[in-house]
Amino acid sequence: MSRGISIAVVGSGYVGLVATACFAEIGHRVICVDNDEAKLKTLAEGGVPIHEDYLPELLDRHRGHSVEFTSDLKAATQAAQAIFIAVGTPQSRTGNADLSYVDAVASEIARSIDEYKVIVEKSTVPVYTNEWIRRVIERNGVPRELFDIASNPEFLREGTAVVDFLHADRVVLGADTERAGDLLKRIYTPLTSGAYYRSANMVPGPRGEEDPPPVLLTSTKAAEIIKHASNAFLATKISFINVVANICEEAGADVEQVARGIGMDSRIGPKFLRAGVGYGGSCFPKDVAAFRHVAEQMGIDFTLLKEVAKINDEQKRRFFQKVRSALWTLRGKKIGVLGLAFKGGTDDIRESPALDIVRQMLHEGSIVSAYDPAATERAREVIPSGPQLRYVDDPYAAAQDAEALVILNEWQEFAELDLKRLHYTLRYPIIIDGRNLYDPAVMLEHGFTYLSVGRPGLSHTRDAAVGQRLP
Ligand code: UGA
Repeated sequence: MSRGISIAVVGSGYVGLVATACFAEIGHRVICVDNDEAKLKTLAEGGVPIHEDYLPELLDRHRGHSVEFTSDLKAATQAAQAIFIAVGTPQSRTGNADLSYVDAVASEIARSIDEYKVIVEKSTVPVYTNEWIRRVIERNGVPRELFDIASNPEFLREGTAVVDFLHADRVVLGADTERAGDLLKRIYTPLTSGAYYRSANMVPGPRGEEDPPPVLLTSTKAAEIIKHASNAFLATKISFINVVANICEEAGADVEQVARGIGMDSRIGPKFLRAGVGYGGSCFPKDVAAFRHVAEQMGIDFTLLKEVAKINDEQKRRFFQKVRSALWTLRGKKIGVLGLAFKGGTDDIRESPALDIVRQMLHEGSIVSAYDPAATERAREVIPSGPQLRYVDDPYAAAQDAEALVILNEWQEFAELDLKRLHYTLRYPIIIDGRNLYDPAVMLEHGFTYLSVGRPGLSHTRDAAVGQRLP
């Protein structure tokens, strides 16, 4: 492995914390900076504030040796050769990204620069942000030869972020000077040379010594656009398949077969063609809006992205309508809910379609028992339990005496339920599955009325599923 490089990571959210742990894992010395003292204390004492596979193990492995947590951005900047900015870029009211955190951090970095530094954007930012950061730093009196701005977007998915980092599809390095590009390349050499995959206790994943991640060197602006365009494209793929699913539903075809058929075309690919209740999370909704805003500011019509977001909203509404149709009216109905996070494998509830749907159920007077393996505590903070809503500890408790069970995200646990037990636990054997986790024929065999997305509804009584056209 190459000799370790001193790195500062500013921000200890999903991106910052995963980058901190993974940079240390590939041999660098990392100082992670945050201004939230309570969070820093948790991290320094061995706690991990987010649910992410392998993250606790990696932080345990490197904490105190090559990972340090601090609120002192000045000291971290002075100690580091490269400073990665990984602070939040939330959506502002107008749809564009709010870059005030990036701005504040850039000013503070500028006041601390005493020798050459590469300042790397890791947060998702609109194109031209690198130029703004450069201006901020110059305005603070730092001579041009003492710094470069670069962009190193991340493509991590929550839940599998550590594996996505260490076994990346690609490493995109956007830099406009050779010096900055070289430092970034050296930081990633343990991965891109394959050296990391020789270490005995590497985090397992798809990459290996013979098949390391490729590097793409680009301009800083191209790297910024690659990030926004990737997320916007993936969101488009999901909205596309969701509309196709609705066509399948009306036509009596199975969207799973259709998606397989489309995805077998290597130009299209099989991934991100899972129909469901719509996309959510802290990235897609925000980045679709922000990328559209970037285009708008340039006078470029990107209405396509407006439609992508509209279809996504409509998908949630349509699914809710399916629940309502299956139960006729919702007032006073007991409904079991599986899934609160925006997808399986995470405790993140930001922009979760599941929470939107639960809110609508409550609004229409249903009595909900909800379960999620990791997101319950977070959900409770935004929708407190009460006479209409109970958070429970296992899927069968959610199903107990319920008049229907609604599946809203795709935890593996939800795809492996004991169907016999589920059948006698529910008051009525109705399952409305927003993630297509089960084979409709198997559900029918087990005596369920089973409604899913983009597939013909199947009812053991042939009358319960009035919301769907039965074949
Ligand atoms: C997404 C991207 O996949 C990452 O590459 C990117 O780095 C990240 O955003 C980011 O910008 O930080 P993430 O938000 O963690 O990652 O989640 P995904 O796994 O991409 O799922 C996003 C949403 O789309 C979820 O609600 C998921 O349930 C939904 N989805 C995904 C579908 O409905 N169908 C699919 O086929 C795939």
